[in-house]
Amino acid sequence: MHTSIIDLEDKTDIEGLAKAAIALREGQVVAFPTETVYGLGAVWNNSEAIHDIFRIKGRPLDNPLIIHESDIMRMKSYYKEWDIVAETLTRCFCPGPFTLIMRKADHIETIATAGMDTIGVRIPSHPVAQALINEVGTGIAAPSANLSGRPSPTNAHDCYEDLAGKVPYILAAGDSRFGLESTIVSWKDGVLEILRPGSISKQAIASCLEEAQIKLTIKQSYRGDEVSEARAPGMKYKHYAPKAKVFILEGDSINEKVKGLEHYEKLELINIRSAFYISENLLSALKDANKLLNYEHVLTFADEENYTVQEEAGKGLFAAFRHFDRLGANAIFVEALSLDGVGAAYMNRLSKASNAKS
Ligand code: TXA
Ligand code: MG
Repeated sequence: MHTSIIDLEDKTDIEGLAKAAIALREGQVVAFPTETVYGLGAVWNNSEAIHDIFRIKGRPLDNPLIIHESDIMRMKSYYKEWDIVAETLTRCFCPGPFTLIMRKADHIETIATAGMDTIGVRIPSHPVAQALINEVGTGIAAPSANLSGRPSPTNAHDCYEDLAGKVPYILAAGDSRFGLESTIVSWKDGVLEILRPGSISKQAIASCLEEAQIKLTIKQSYRGDEVSEARAPGMKYKHYAPKAKVFILEGDSINEKVKGLEHYEKLELINIRSAFYISENLLSALKDANKLLNYEHVLTFADEENYTVQEEAGKGLFAAFRHFDRLGANAIFVEALSLDGVGAAYMNRLSKASNAKS
């Protein structure tokens, strides 16, 4: 199969978008941009097409997919009940990087749920994702557009790397704004569980609920170990792993992180093929300490106006993994960050990537 990349970044290529929508309606699978990561979509209740998603990704059949919808009215129709918590959270965070898991309505039949009696739905805020859903006219089931086990793609090039020859179209719209997959939540009996941390942080969820005077205990574990596997089937699988082994540079201060690197040096784990994904602050500390001068494979991040260092680090993490893999790096050293805000999501993906090869 020939794979065309349709560029929708600068101006909306109405024809290209229409072609992709027709392909979806005809039961094909198409990759498209969202604000979190790129998705691999199919019409939500077309069994053959959904089956193709699992086959193309090499995804285990017991791992359900998220449905992407265009608005809250349509989102509601997938669920059995819609309570005040759902009403409040969707008002705060939808459209955006936020997925609600609740019991599915009886009339909702799709293999996208992998046989579960719950369903995950989100409303992407990305204009191309929105336009595509509207053009197709139904919800789109979509996992991240990577092959199973690989880092999620955050640009069309990274999709192409995994999907060339396997899908007719990849819609392109630059880099995903968040670079980490959506926050997934479910709740019952007074406890809200963050099944997967994302760009909507625990603190943001807490203040949204507080404002509406809703009292729920919020449970989040960035390593995913507090969350029961049965409720988050995807969490037990290996994730996000580049080919190179990932090492974390831990420490409460930049100095401690420099020491962390020295520790890896002593273990002779660092050589000319090592790569680094670190903050600009750590880079300058390492230069001051005469480290890193011989290493070419360095990508950095820094806080920017309106965005924290965690948000910026999260945005580029998966792209960095893929970039270093292409360069043939044998080890990737990545800076740990505090768990505040998006830090929990960043550290969750990082710890999964580093555990994958240990
Ligand atoms: O940001 C995102 O959510 C991206 C973009 C494309 O929207 N999608 C994404 O999908 O990350 P995927 O398939 O890579 O991850 C979906 C996760 C899996 O861990 C899956 O187990 C979980 O959501 N999930 C989906 N439906 C569920 C359900 N009914 N109950 C529990 N977990 C569910
Ligand atoms: Mg995924």
